[in-house]
Amino acid sequence: MATDDAATRSSRWELGSDFHYPGTPSASSSPLDAFPKGMSLWHSGRDALRALVALHPEKFRRVFFPSFYCQDVPLALVADGAEVLVYPDDGVALEVPAGLRPGDAVIVSNTLGLRGASPIIRPLPSGTTLVEDHTHDPFSPWATRMEGDFAFASLRKWLPIPDGGAVWSGRLPVPEPPLLDSSHAHTSLLRLSGMLLKSRYLAGEPVDKATFRELLVSAEHRIGRGDIGAISPIARDLLKLLPAAEYRLARRANFEHCRRTLGDVPELQVLAPLGAEASQAVPFALTVLLPSKAKRDTLRAALAAESIYAAVLWPIDGAALPGIPPEHASRSECILSVHCDARYGQDDMTRLAETLSRLARAS
Ligand SMILES: Cc1ncc(COP(=O)(O)O)c(C=O)c1O
Repeated sequence: MATDDAATRSSRWELGSDFHYPGTPSASSSPLDAFPKGMSLWHSGRDALRALVALHPEKFRRVFFPSFYCQDVPLALVADGAEVLVYPDDGVALEVPAGLRPGDAVIVSNTLGLRGASPIIRPLPSGTTLVEDHTHDPFSPWATRMEGDFAFASLRKWLPIPDGGAVWSGRLPVPEPPLLDSSHAHTSLLRLSGMLLKSRYLAGEPVDKATFRELLVSAEHRIGRGDIGAISPIARDLLKLLPAAEYRLARRANFEHCRRTLGDVPELQVLAPLGAEASQAVPFALTVLLPSKAKRDTLRAALAAESIYAAVLWPIDGAALPGIPPEHASRSECILSVHCDARYGQDDMTRLAETLSRLARAS
């Protein structure tokens, strides 16, 4: 019987995709204690930013986003009526937007967790507002010390919680969240149910994969739209319990182990932290660049056939917003990210690296 269980669990091995409900959380103190007082918690990263813009409309007359970035975020602000522009930042090299004027805000992102410090080294012109997006490494030294006027993050993208985003500032007022409404509570229930069922499935129990996938996908479609919403009570409490600092160490160790095991593979470029502050960075995922969209798509499908679910961070529609350099839209067609977070250990990373190397060499 025990052997059957182990065999079922092993046949259900997979890597990537949505979080399952975490095992036994055990932080010795709340990870949120490291942040400035006055952090406010929201249903998602988009809710946090939308609420900030609604509180300070005079600081967000025009909002500049990086060109290589999660397009759902600027599009959510466009839907709220904001004027959104794009400045060149491919995640590595950035050009501060020209012609900034009072009332403008610039979003700077720790894209893929590859930046150990802010790439904006000179203060922006007076009357402009700098907002940092720490979604991809929310517990980094840069995120807790923050150099901008405000910072925000989608916590649910980094931690195994059903919903959650945050906005904080060392010195300026941040918005107060409303009470949780029934629509956002419904979304959290869908997502939490999917996470719980996925954890039972991975444990080898008789759970149908399609059931939790449908719950997780339908919840994802509801997030960040409609009214601005608050964090759910369960996500709020999990945030205080989950060992974020240990998760961060595990992610770094996983990334490094995978990269080392992978070695040099022809036509596969691993994106790693660069620059003087590289040692402070913890990559969000193992992200690779391939020479073409066709090769990327082939590799992605081959990985999925071996239960490794790679993500595209991000699909960029060059026509969705004005000013996106064509090469940044092309870059998004050649990119692939595989999760290396604390759900996984060294054996998983060895398997990932060996599979990636074999499939990339074969394609
Ligand atoms: C870098 C970045 N910032 C913000 C967000 C928005 O987060 P949410 O989906 O929780 O609104 C995302 C979403 O994927 C993201 O990748």
